[in-house]
Amino acid sequence: SEQFASLARDHIRAIEDWPEPGVTFRDITPLLADPAGLAGTVDALAGIAATWGPIDKVVGIEARGFVLAPPVAMRLGAGFVPVRKAGKLPAAVESRTYDLEYGSATVEIHRDAIVTGERVLVLDDVLATGGTLSAARDLVTGLGGRVVGQLVLVELAPLGGRARLGTQTPTAALVTY
Ligand code: PRP
Ligand code: HPA
Repeated sequence: SEQFASLARDHIRAIEDWPEPGVTFRDITPLLADPAGLAGTVDALAGIAATWGPIDKVVGIEARGFVLAPPVAMRLGAGFVPVRKAGKLPAAVESRTYDLEYGSATVEIHRDAIVTGERVLVLDDVLATGGTLSAARDLVTGLGGRVVGQLVLVELAPLGGRARLGTQTPTAALVTY
């Protein structure tokens, strides 16, 4: 709701010049540390996802996506699938390399984590340039999954992530800066 979005905004703090000069880092840890903030965040994310129809798997992205994806998956009656940084997953993986707001990264998913035709929600804490979410989406679709939505707690609109993600799949954020 609008009311929760404003509580969330009040509990997200801005850290200037972190992790490097010129970046204003939106820190969600005060929101997650607040009991009503944590519960409200999970409820609000699950509520948006539920409008996209049934969901079989929630893909969460390391590291901060791991905090949100399992409780949201439980609300939706879905399973949780991790997308991890390179070299962390033990079984056969698919990989993607992409550019970040700062630096570059490779993400991986277990090949058997998504079954062809499954309806998948991709969830992360922050949408910045969109590189991470689009890499995760490509991993899922490469395995035959159908990405029904891309969902974040925070969208940093000036970084243009929404344009990079396109409009084919619904994208939503609880709080936009
Ligand atoms: C951050 C954030 C998102 C991503 C967003 O992750 O948690 O996953 O960047 O940026 P993008 O839209 O430009 O791709 P980071 O790689 O800093 O890792 P962390 O979650 O392990 O801290
Ligand atoms: N805040 C939090 N996470 C991020 C940011 C940010 O500004 N940019 C990329 N990931």
